[in-house]
Amino acid sequence: MNIAAAKEIAPGERRVGLMPQGVEKLVRLGAHVHLAEGYGIPVDLDDESYRDAGAEMHPNVPEMLSATDCLVTVQKPPDDRLGLLRAGSITVGFLDPFRNIGLVGALASKDISSLCMELIPRTSYAQKMDALSSQASLAGYAAVIKAADRIDKLFPMMTTPAGTISPARVFVIGVGVAGLQAIATAKRLGARVEAYDTRPVVEEQVQSLGAKFVKIDVGETGQTEQGYAKELTAEQLEAQRQQMARHVGNADVVITTAQIFGRPAPRIVSAEMVAGMRPGSVAVDLAASTGGNIEGSVADQEVMIGGVRVIGLANLPSEVAKDASQMYTNNVVNLIEHAWDEDQKTLRLDPEDDVLASCLLTYHGEIRDERIRALVEAES
Ligand code: NAI
Repeated sequence: MNIAAAKEIAPGERRVGLMPQGVEKLVRLGAHVHLAEGYGIPVDLDDESYRDAGAEMHPNVPEMLSATDCLVTVQKPPDDRLGLLRAGSITVGFLDPFRNIGLVGALASKDISSLCMELIPRTSYAQKMDALSSQASLAGYAAVIKAADRIDKLFPMMTTPAGTISPARVFVIGVGVAGLQAIATAKRLGARVEAYDTRPVVEEQVQSLGAKFVKIDVGETGQTEQGYAKELTAEQLEAQRQQMARHVGNADVVITTAQIFGRPAPRIVSAEMVAGMRPGSVAVDLAASTGGNIEGSVADQEVMIGGVRVIGLANLPSEVAKDASQMYTNNVVNLIEHAWDEDQKTLRLDPEDDVLASCLLTYHGEIRDERIRALVEAES
């Protein structure tokens, strides 16, 4: 089986889907790995490192893609590359399917099977393939580093002959994978950290990291079987905003990570709450690309709202591209290894398999996820 990858072309994307160690593993499985020349440049790797790992480097990307059995990407394949793939081939990568309905329809109609990284099930076994989690964790880290860089004050308390500096106050909203890593990183830098989530089960995790859990009463909340938050009603969100305003106003740094899988992000921090923050403080909105938790945040931009710097960088894992690529590669290779047929030396896509049942999005011309199929049908 031929497995190929070419340089990502989305603006600002510096991650690669296959690092050399991953290539080595695929070659050991019996795959032939084909990469575009210069593939590793964004992560400072030359073609030689990939050749040493067993990859064949190609000067002609269209020719390489039209011959491949399986294309590995980080972000969704662009239309012109999709057009080169042959019927019966496979793509592996993030597809952002709820926001790329047209792409999912095209994959199905071209009979391209797709393994969608966002749909890896949240089971203990599949954790090693869970790229949403590996990348969210890095985003949480990078958000704090970015805020520390942009703010005009120190994170740790500092006692010096010239006076004592108080620690920065950091408020993390949404304590999933990214939020937990943001809390841990801010604590390591010496900040005083508060955190809030609608799922009360995270209170203990927040406390175990040495942060304070903010309790806000919005009535009945909950989580799905997969561990995702349920969407709040408009009234609940308003109650949440009212009770949260004081904590936002006291913070030097607010980091929001609240997402609802497959839905626009909840608007949690209003313009009024931002106005209540001290000039010079910083807010990082990790949900900016799915609608934003902070009113006024703009995806992929830093904007000043009053005196507050609101950072909406959508692709924070790309800020730490080398480690992000390493973790992503491991997730992808673990998924390929899971579905690998050792005798035939090829991917065997069994829709009944526990992991593939969830993440095999298109297969033999069908869209297998009901929610996404309904959206594609509604659009056509
Ligand atoms: P996510 O990225 O979907 O959302 C981030 C956080 O925002 C979640 O904790 C969510 O509860 C919170 N949130 C949503 N609406 C909110 C609101 N209005 N106000 C405040 N907070 C709000 O979630 P993520 O990071 O993907 O993880 C969710 C859960 O799934 C976590 O408990 C995580 O540990 C669990 N998980 C389990 C895995 C497994 O078992 N293999 C793998 C990954 C995550």
